[in-house]
Amino acid sequence: MSINVEVPSGNFKGYNLNTRMQQPPDEELTQIGPGTPCGEYLRRYWHPIAMTEQLTEFPLRIRRFGEDLVLFRDKSGQYGCLHLHCSHRNTSLEFGIIEEKGVRCCYHGWLYDVDGTIIDTPGEPETSKIKDNVAHGAYPTIEYRGLIFAYFGPPEEMPTFPFLDHMDLGPEDEMVPFLIPNPCNWLQTFENSFDPHHTVHLHTRVSGAQFTDEFAVHPEFEIFERPYGYFYTNARRIEDKVWMRFHDHLPPNFSQNGSMFPDAKKNAYFLKAGLTRWVVPVDDENNITIAWRHFIDGYDPFGFGDKSKCGYNSVDFYGQTDELEYEERQRKPGDYEAWVGQGTVNVHKAENLGETDKGVAMARRHHREQIRALQNGERMPQPTDLGLPVPLYGGDSVLTIPKSNDDDRKTVREVCHRVAAIYMEGDKYQGEDREEFIIKSLKKLEETWPN
Ligand code: FES
Ligand SMILES: [Fe+2]
Repeated sequence: MSINVEVPSGNFKGYNLNTRMQQPPDEELTQIGPGTPCGEYLRRYWHPIAMTEQLTEFPLRIRRFGEDLVLFRDKSGQYGCLHLHCSHRNTSLEFGIIEEKGVRCCYHGWLYDVDGTIIDTPGEPETSKIKDNVAHGAYPTIEYRGLIFAYFGPPEEMPTFPFLDHMDLGPEDEMVPFLIPNPCNWLQTFENSFDPHHTVHLHTRVSGAQFTDEFAVHPEFEIFERPYGYFYTNARRIEDKVWMRFHDHLPPNFSQNGSMFPDAKKNAYFLKAGLTRWVVPVDDENNITIAWRHFIDGYDPFGFGDKSKCGYNSVDFYGQTDELEYEERQRKPGDYEAWVGQGTVNVHKAENLGETDKGVAMARRHHREQIRALQNGERMPQPTDLGLPVPLYGGDSVLTIPKSNDDDRKTVREVCHRVAAIYMEGDKYQGEDREEFIIKSLKKLEETWPN
């Protein structure tokens, strides 16, 4: 008796490659706990760590940069970010009582000010010096437009708060905070924004347009270096227009997109970002996306935006959380599936980077150089080295530029370079003067472009 089965032909290499994903992760870029090289690097910058709306009458327990912390606003309105465990006998201050000044531990009543000073140690004799001799860990915080920022680095190196120009665009911009937990290393979520090619497939061709149909066109991806950080253009030919999305990318973990739902067929000049975003490590295996969605008057031509959806673990564009059923996420995966799907900590050695990954490669190279420079005692450059407010470019421009019969991709790239030069030249102005200079220059470029 014989069984009639057919062995498939093919060049199967499963066995040969079965240790591929078992290689060690890139520790230099992915380990962020206290004392690690990358952890030290990230601790040289201000980071948003929570939304103001998360604070209640009770202290909020959070974990950031591998540290357990408690966050609260005392009754005098001061924000405190303290090490979680009470310096007396380590009970969690999440069960503490918020007072006029500071938070009081529930166990034996030690009272902590927002800078960690121990104000009261009830039960100890009046002569006790214990509260003067014990230091409790605390970090400085700043609340701004619904986000709470903290600085986790050495106090003597604390940089200026990074006031970026998109943090105050005027009354026509409503900035709505949101925060999304991601169960993976910070780098995976962060790198997604330096990878515009994924918008073609993940956001458009795979499961239908998650944003707009025009994202299906493969973009020309040009990266520009600034005195601090990068920006890139992600440009597409749409009929007689060149649609350019400018993305800001400020190391270590800041990025800004263009509009969320732009009209790529309508001329536009120096529009502002739809999203101002940081990716902040929780620990090596978790991070948060913490951001503002910008709702700017006249910027949502199709009416797709919905500010009521922005908040904790929720935002008004597709695929950022695990809220949908698993089958639906398999049918229409989004960014969340892409970055979480790389594994808890992505194995860089198992990847095969190509031309489309030049942004990812550049960001990794930058982090590595900075991490090593810090280890050599160098000062970490700051976005505020550019002056205040820091000028940003994130947003869309759509110019009428006739299609070239020759090499139109080259034309599109050339337009990007010319427009980027105009944006950068605009840095010498501020506010309305800058706006006026850039818009005027873009229109002139459009008018004078050879037919
Ligand atoms: S453990 Fe906090 S006061 Fe004793
Ligand atoms: Fe995306």
